[in-house]
Amino acid sequence: MTMTTAIEVRGLRKDFPVREKGILGPRTLKRAVDGLDLDIPRGRVTGLLGLNGAGKTTTIKILATLLRPSAGTVRIDGLDAVADARAVRRRINLIAGGERMVYTRMTGRENLWYFGQLYDVPKADLRRRTGELLDLVGLSGAADTMVERYSRGMTQRLAIARGLVNRPDYLLLDEPTLGLDAPIARDLRRVVADLAAHDGTGVLLTSHYLAEVEELCGHVYVISAGRHLAQGSPAELKAATGSHRTVRLTVTDPTERTRAAADAFGATRETLPDGGELITLRHPGDMAGPLTAAVFEAGGSIGGLEIAEASLEDAILTLAERGEAGLAGPGSGRPDATTIRPGAATAPPEAATAPPGAGTAPSEAAAAGVKGGTP
Ligand SMILES: Nc1ncnc2c1ncn2[C@@H]1O[C@H](COP(=O)(O)OP(=O)(O)O)[C@@H](O)[C@H]1O
Ligand SMILES: [Mg+2]
Repeated sequence: MTMTTAIEVRGLRKDFPVREKGILGPRTLKRAVDGLDLDIPRGRVTGLLGLNGAGKTTTIKILATLLRPSAGTVRIDGLDAVADARAVRRRINLIAGGERMVYTRMTGRENLWYFGQLYDVPKADLRRRTGELLDLVGLSGAADTMVERYSRGMTQRLAIARGLVNRPDYLLLDEPTLGLDAPIARDLRRVVADLAAHDGTGVLLTSHYLAEVEELCGHVYVISAGRHLAQGSPAELKAATGSHRTVRLTVTDPTERTRAAADAFGATRETLPDGGELITLRHPGDMAGPLTAAVFEAGGSIGGLEIAEASLEDAILTLAERGEAGLAGPGSGRPDATTIRPGAATAPPEAATAPPGAGTAPSEAAAAGVKGGTP
């Protein structure tokens, strides 16, 4: 067993039993995660991206020990997420957007105290930690108020504090800013960036808000139908998908010469209602200058110039489309996985052993199903 300080996921698979056509239909298995390899090191925010249903939440729940894998291994600093689940739980925590995961019939302080004990935080530490966290999320003044009297924003802040109560070495964030008020979302991003940079916390982030991913993530995995599609930095993903910067140049007095100049760049042309011409060029590089100069030298008058940056969203959509095309293609069992960073190819899955009795770990009820009740 290697003692790497990272989360190492190898050959991860998760099958959910489902019934086709209602409750009396035949039982089949839905493969939500299909052979994933992930490395989530300390001190960095790693992204896990994919369209809805790609398997992101399932993966995160397995890493959080809330679900058992059907096959494959998850090691957290060398500890097995199934066999050593209790020890693993001391090192990880989860913040999932949409689920508040705090008790409304306790005060903020009582919540942190309760969850801290659940995570085996020593009592002496916990007293200090609770105060620090209430401070961090701006709830010191409301520490002894029942959560049912908190505003939505205050409850969200408490949920963030709950996610940090055990000083996790690894923080799992599943759509953490979903439904958060903008200032709280911004605070959370700052806290997360700070935890990775200064405390060496390893963070795994899923978010449909790709500006957030670009801001925080140095490395991103893209998955589709539970399978690896690509990995790399956001910039590398954009470059590798040919996600292009778009240059739009308006020529007010187009001539054969200006058209020839535009065509030489492989740009597309479109006549505008006022007789001008819109020249559009999508290119990974910065072509605005050369294109404008060429059209100008061909005697054209420039009526407008617009440059749109490549977006990570485009890159993910392109990858997902390619992935689905690969899945649908004849005879292709698996899409060509793109490894964008040279030398960062993932290791082949180890011979995966399925833990007995796939299902839900006992902590699930304690950690997840607590909206509004009393324990
Ligand atoms: N408990 C479950 N039972 C059956 N199918 C499930 C269950 N949870 C998730 N799935 C299915 O697994 C796939 C992956 O879901 P999920 O991990 O939630 O994806 P994502 O978070 O990327 O949107 C989806 O097709 C989803 O419908
Ligand atoms: Mg999800």
